[in-house]
Amino acid sequence: MTTPATPTGLNDAAELLARIPDFEQALAFYHRHLAPDEAVDLSVAENVLVYDDSMQKMVFDHTALLPEPYIHYMSAYGTPELREQVAALLGKAWGARVSAGDVFGTAGVGSALECLAFALQDAPRNGEPGPPPLVEGDAVLIPAPYWQGFNWSFEQRPKLRCVPVDLPTEGPGRFRLTLDLVKERFRAHERQTGRQPRLLVLTNPHNPLGVNYGKELLEEIYAWAIDETELHIISDEIYCHSQVDGGRIPFTSAVALDAYRKHPERIHVVWGFAKDFGLSGFRTGFVVSKYGPVQRAMLGTQGIEEKKHPMSWFTPFDSLKHYVIGSLLSSTVNGSGSELYTDYAMRRYRELLSASFERVKDRLAANDIGFVYLEGDNPAQFFWLDLQEYLGKRPPEGSYAATPLPIAAGTGLDRDELWLFNYLAAPPTGVSLLPGGTMHSPAPGFFRLCFTARQPEEVCEAVDRIGLALGKLVILG
Ligand SMILES: Cc1ncc(COP(=O)(O)O)c(C=O)c1O
Repeated sequence: MTTPATPTGLNDAAELLARIPDFEQALAFYHRHLAPDEAVDLSVAENVLVYDDSMQKMVFDHTALLPEPYIHYMSAYGTPELREQVAALLGKAWGARVSAGDVFGTAGVGSALECLAFALQDAPRNGEPGPPPLVEGDAVLIPAPYWQGFNWSFEQRPKLRCVPVDLPTEGPGRFRLTLDLVKERFRAHERQTGRQPRLLVLTNPHNPLGVNYGKELLEEIYAWAIDETELHIISDEIYCHSQVDGGRIPFTSAVALDAYRKHPERIHVVWGFAKDFGLSGFRTGFVVSKYGPVQRAMLGTQGIEEKKHPMSWFTPFDSLKHYVIGSLLSSTVNGSGSELYTDYAMRRYRELLSASFERVKDRLAANDIGFVYLEGDNPAQFFWLDLQEYLGKRPPEGSYAATPLPIAAGTGLDRDELWLFNYLAAPPTGVSLLPGGTMHSPAPGFFRLCFTARQPEEVCEAVDRIGLALGKLVILG
């Protein structure tokens, strides 16, 4: 008997890789399915520190196999208990009370951002404070470099448009955000299009720069945005616990600002378990907002004229997430009942992060690899390597062939930056870094190294390999 020829779906790893449009996601897929064992991926924002240290031992070893209630439907934006627990966790990190009723779970911060982008296109009602709703095509200002996922979250389905606010790449204000930069970009966009941008997104601490924005700077930017424009502001605080000891500029959450006290309707915050807790695969995210249209979009509406399902239903905080994250949030240290595991884990994370940061920083310096850093800057989970001096250089003729990795998503990159990426990622170096061009870096030659993606000794060895490879590069005559 012959089987009729039917079209089949694509399931070959190499072919699937060629279809992934996001460089970082493509690298994560490549390293999981196709890379040789000795290859090290420091490109993807992952964090192994807390899990390896204590999470498996103190939480998941004691988590029973799935109990029956968790196979059933649950509130898609989080049960009241889960929302209370998350509000308490965030309240501690943000130094301000967070109300459980303002917390809405989703399937990842990428989804939380998309929910906001849709919800802000709904109008305030019955005299609620708030500017007119956003419409398709409206501009979203984002200091650049920035996490490339904002493009997916804001542009793909909500149809907003990301507009980078390029940070300077040279001089004393190198990669520093100022109110003037935001204002200039805002006005330039208005001049060019006749329309004012409607959304400002600040990532605090920043990805890829790692830095915290100081309270004064934030108050200044927020006050301008609220008093002089119709901008909504999203503060992406997904790395809020990623703080090293001895920082010069402490982390300040948007909810701890005077601006938030005066105008909570203009400010929306997102956070999730992917980065600080290293649980990226679960896809957990939270919208925190007091704004009427956002609350209605997240809760759903039940009017005669309008019935809308909660946004999270399409991208749920599902029962499996409730189960695993619920275990995490309820666990106590060694089951003693005396301290919540999450409090312990974030205290320990700070120690691990600080130690790892110092070790890798010293190793980068020992290898003479430059990175953008002012003493006392927070790193979150990253080094922003400055490899500009190597652009265009090559190893002495015939000594080396950089095999391009099969990452098709990189085609829009600067040629020399892409060459350098391939040179470092291919054997014998075998270390993947994220090219800055994928993150809208205003100049080529910068690469993001995620130092929490592996244990510090492995990162240090990878840094040595990078140093060795860079040392071979020369200007060919
Ligand atoms: C700034 C920022 N926001 C959001 C996300 C996405 O989070 P999630 O994986 O929970 O969707 C990332 C992931 O790298 C990020 O760096």
